Amino acid sequence: MLIAPSLLSCDFSVMGKEIERMDKSGADYMHLDVMDGHFVPNITFGAPVIKTVRKYTDKPFDVHLMISEPLRYIEDFANAGADIITFHVESESDIQQTIDKIKSFGVKPGLVIKPNTPASVVFPYLKDLFMVLVMTVEPGFGGQSFMADMLPKVGEIREQAKTANPDLLIEVDGGIGEKTIRQAYEAGVDVCVAGTAVFKAEDATLAIDNLKALCK
Ligand code: DX5
Ligand code: ZN
Repeated sequence: MLIAPSLLSCDFSVMGKEIERMDKSGADYMHLDVMDGHFVPNITFGAPVIKTVRKYTDKPFDVHLMISEPLRYIEDFANAGADIITFHVESESDIQQTIDKIKSFGVKPGLVIKPNTPASVVFPYLKDLFMVLVMTVEPGFGGQSFMADMLPKVGEIREQAKTANPDLLIEVDGGIGEKTIRQAYEAGVDVCVAGTAVFKAEDATLAIDNLKALCK
């Protein structure tokens, strides 16, 4: 299991140091939650902040766009150093055009589905994607409870991807911790985002080790 700590739960006054700390703690990706206060009822940070903290690790930046018009800002996030850009199928941008734009900058594209969105909406795009992110909470805030009833979507996507894109990564985001990660693992998830479980732990290395150990 790959672990992607969500910087949403970090100390923003020392965000670079927090990224360094996660790098040393065994994080696989850095998960960066971009919120515009319109697509979701919360505001975080944008491309300039991501660009500033890019130098604190060589690990991939997994940028999760919770914004209404992702297509307008793809270039900014690519230039800021994103390695993976995921955006919501529920956003207002044309999905294929947005995927193509992400790829045009050599960045890996991913589609995200909210809890009320069925898995089938991503099927037509699977062959073009690096990742599908299945939300296991309503996007907008860290620290919410894991929605286990989202996990069947992982199996549905995997089944479709068998022929369309066998290398596809499936990520889940929201409420992942020691009590929930095994269910995600058993459902076939490849990457788990974890905010609270990693950042609020006394020892992040131990927290990440424990999460990984539960997936064997
Ligand atoms: C929610 C964000 C998540 C969030 C996860 O909108 O996309 O990445 O930070 O936080 P936890 O792990 O605390 O649920
Ligand atoms: Zn996220």
